[in-house]
Amino acid sequence: MYSAAITGTGVFTPQHTISNDELVDAFNAYAERFNAEHAEAIAAGEVEAKPQSSSDFILAASGIERRYVLDKSGVLDPDRMFPRLPARADEEPSYMAEMAVDASLQALSQAGRSADDVDAVICAASNHERAYPAIAVEIQNLLEINGFGFDMNVACSSATFGIQTATDMIRAGSIRSALVVCPEICSAHLEWRDRDCHFIFGDVATAVLVERDEGLERPHFKIRSTRLATDFSNNIRNNDGFLRRTHDQMEDRRDMQFMQNGRKVFKEVLPLVSQHIAGHMADDGISADDLKRLWLHQANKSMNDYIGKKVLGRAPEDGEQPNILQDYANTSSAGSIIAFAKYSDDLGAGDIGLICSFGAGYSVGSVIVERA
Ligand code: COA
Repeated sequence: MYSAAITGTGVFTPQHTISNDELVDAFNAYAERFNAEHAEAIAAGEVEAKPQSSSDFILAASGIERRYVLDKSGVLDPDRMFPRLPARADEEPSYMAEMAVDASLQALSQAGRSADDVDAVICAASNHERAYPAIAVEIQNLLEINGFGFDMNVACSSATFGIQTATDMIRAGSIRSALVVCPEICSAHLEWRDRDCHFIFGDVATAVLVERDEGLERPHFKIRSTRLATDFSNNIRNNDGFLRRTHDQMEDRRDMQFMQNGRKVFKEVLPLVSQHIAGHMADDGISADDLKRLWLHQANKSMNDYIGKKVLGRAPEDGEQPNILQDYANTSSAGSIIAFAKYSDDLGAGDIGLICSFGAGYSVGSVIVERA
């Protein structure tokens, strides 16, 4: 059995940001128009009026201040309320591949590696922009990597599931290294016309280079252990899919976009994640005192505060559990990796940290790393 290490990370951040105020202005304009257009039906009790959204609610309920998106104008157009991403010809790079290539080049550069040093590409994300060929194979082709690539989807937990998959292949000796990329275009499956969730998501892509831990010269993170778990739930769900035509349901339907029962998710996922992390740490032989940093999934600030407190047995101190969701919002699988990429350089040799992602499925994955 070989050991594996994370040797490089990269984050592709889109150009456009949307502040809570901009988002709320667009939503409220849309809601007013909707209510005016449906005034009679609303008065007759046949249609529900759309309530107004509020920036204060968004910040207090989630901790989110802004989000990055690939396209801003379509999202903020009250007559549209979703991004404008022109279709690309088959000969052009797909959106997800383009974002992932940018993040991958950063990860390779940080690790001092080139495409020749990579054996596999895993594209782990909560949505893939087409069924096939796999986005990972396209990324492999664009980067001129030998070997193979495949896509996987475990929603918000995709990054840690991808890292364990890469790590296991490295441990077994079938590959020496893999890029685990998480290109997330959440803006395209978020329902921007639903005030309960319109503030939740943003777009981003992350890349992590996982290599065999042998003769590594640059600073890196040894992967001490990984753990995954799933437990079926319908509380976060998206029913869009290839059977849509066969169901005679080609029209726009609410459940073709992101759906969640946020309160239930909050209540059910917290114990699942806290117990998962506690079990993983115990089996790895580490206690809360050994843990220098927690890089958690970035969905909600109160959720992270709660998990941090449960894991450490006290409120996390400044910097111990970095959040990036105030700037990026929830970026699904990419969130914990953005936090890891941006807040890990300062750790010293022997320092231990834990990456944890969780979400739809339900699913939870954790990776315990040690700086070397
Ligand atoms: N502006 C103003 N008010 C809003 C609003 C908005 N944008 N959205 C909802 N509200 C209202 C609700 O209608 C509700 O009103 P009511 O009390 O009169 O019924 C009230 O604010 C509270 O709404 P609720 O949905 O219960 O808020 P919450 O405190 O649970 O926060 C989430 C909502 C989504 C931020 C929170 O539940 C959450 O983060 N859940 C977990 C999400 C998660 O991790 N998902 C994983 C996705 S991958």
